[in-house]
This record gives sequence, structure tokens and C-alpha cells, in this order.
Amino acid sequence: MKTNTKLKPVKKADLQVVKPVKTTKYSDINLNAWKDYGHVLTGTLWQFPSRLKQHGHSNEYHGNYIPQIAQQMYERYTKKNDIVLDLFFGSGTSGIEAINMERRCIGVELKDELAESVSEKFTPKQLVTDVNIICADSASELAVEKIKARLDVMGEKKAQFLMLHPPYDDIIKFSDKKEDLSNCATTEEFYDLFERVAKNGYDLLEKGRFACLIIGDSYKNSEVQPLGFECMNRMRKLGFVLKSTIVKDIQGNERGKGRTANLWRYRALAGGFSIFTHEYIFVFQKK
Ligand SMILES: C[S@@+](CC[C@H](N)C(=O)[O-])C[C@H]1O[C@@H](n2cnc3c(N)ncnc32)[C@H](O)[C@@H]1O
Repeated sequence: MKTNTKLKPVKKADLQVVKPVKTTKYSDINLNAWKDYGHVLTGTLWQFPSRLKQHGHSNEYHGNYIPQIAQQMYERYTKKNDIVLDLFFGSGTSGIEAINMERRCIGVELKDELAESVSEKFTPKQLVTDVNIICADSASELAVEKIKARLDVMGEKKAQFLMLHPPYDDIIKFSDKKEDLSNCATTEEFYDLFERVAKNGYDLLEKGRFACLIIGDSYKNSEVQPLGFECMNRMRKLGFVLKSTIVKDIQGNERGKGRTANLWRYRALAGGFSIFTHEYIFVFQKK
């Protein structure tokens, strides 16, 4: 049988140009396929209709942040296997999302019973290789030593991302411990303690990498306490370079506010202030 060995000429239009993957030093986002990342937010106003409750997340801890923030931060500012250091670990949102997105995490939490119960959200294997939970005061030298020891076990010298979600001064009291940032005698003391934690975070973060501060403002003595701006400035003072100031809509993500909405509206009208419907997400880079 005679076979046709004559090849058809290839037309230029038939050739599909496959561009090489192009990423930054701090993210796996392929810049040569940037149009595929429509889900990654680059604007400064963030609105999520509701809190993500699947994939290991729940809303049992009063004062946790919504997991969508971790998802956005990790995708833009971390690579697979990177270590996220969270110095206010709380109910472990940063750790759960680290597992979901194949990152690793070291979390520091002051309350020992909380640190213990959060450990139950992870498998024994994950607690060895992927998530390390430390019970300590994040402002202390002891915490730094413990974090360094865990980094060493995980084969790293520094963390690749820093997450800071401190108490918003005394809005929610987390414990009676004197080291607790929600237990400070004055707001000035809160700022100073926050700065000490942020300084530890700065020292433990790899150069060129990013940090995220999530925080809202408060009212005290009929006056706004600009916690967000002050903490942001304390971080700039430490050497962090401010990269983004994001305003996040908190309506719909908060628990229980609906019940007292009318009362707050009356108070606002009578007292000349506005009801907080946002919090801040500040993004920094360590140059
Ligand atoms: C706003 S919550 C963080 C919630 C967490 N991001 C989550 O999603 O569950 C702040 C946490 O910081 C803890 N905390 C307060 N002072 C601390 C300190 N000095 N060192 C470590 N943790 C502290 C509190 O116990 C509380 O759990």
C-alpha cells in the first residue's frame, strides 16, 4: 500500500505560542497569563457578601477575620510551601487557609487553652510538617526564640509572609492577661505593645517579602481612636514600606450587629458620629 508521506506546510496561524511562566520572587501568579487571575483583587475597596464557612473554617471565635482575606493575601504575596507567620493566631484562620493553599504556617497565640483547642483543627501530621502553634506573648523575646526554633525545624531562617490581626484595642477583651493587647490600660499603651509585636515580626520576615495588618478603629470618650492609621504608621516607622491601604466592608461579615442596629443609629444621630462599616487591610513590604 502506498502511503502519503508529503507533509502539509505549517501555517503561522496554526502555531500556538506558549509563553514561559513568569512570576515574581514572592508569588506564583504567572504574569504571562495575568488575564486568568480575575479573582485576585487589586482594588482598594473590598466587599465580600458573606464569610466563607467551608474548608475547615467556622465562625465560632468572636474576632476572627474572614478567610477570603487570607486567600487573597496568600495568592498575591506567597508561593507554594512558603511560611506564613501569624503573631495573633486566635482561632487559626491563617493556618487553615495555609493548609488549603499548600502553604505552611507558624501561629503564636497568648491564650494557652485556645492554642490547645486550635491544634485539634489540624491532623497530627500537619502539626509536625505544616502548622506550628506556639503559646506565647508575641511581644516577648521568648516568642522570638520559639519561632526561630520552629523555623529551623521547618528548614527556614525567616518567614515569607507576616500576618498581623491584633485586638482592636479593648473592643473585644480576649483575656485578663497583662500581655494581652486587648487589656491595655490606655490606647497609647496598646500602640506601644503592638509596635513591639510588629518589630518581632519585622525581624523574622525575609527581605523583599510582605506583611498584612488587619485592623479597625474604635470610639472612646466620644472620639474616634484611629487605631488603623496609628498602627500602620508604627509599622512604617519600623521600616515596612506601605504598599496598599484597603478598606474592607464589614457589613454582613459581623455577628450580632443586626440586633442593636437601631440603637447605634440613634446614638450616631444624637452623638454626631458615624457607625463603622469598614476595617482596614494594610499591606507592607520589607525592602
Ligand atoms: C483579633 S484576634 C485574632 C483572630 C484570628 N486572626 C482569627 O482569625 O481567629 C487577636 C488574638 O490575639 C491574641 N493576643 C492578644 N495579645 C497577644 C499577645 N501579646 N501575644 C499573642 N497573642 C495575643 C488574642 O488572644 C486573640 O486571640
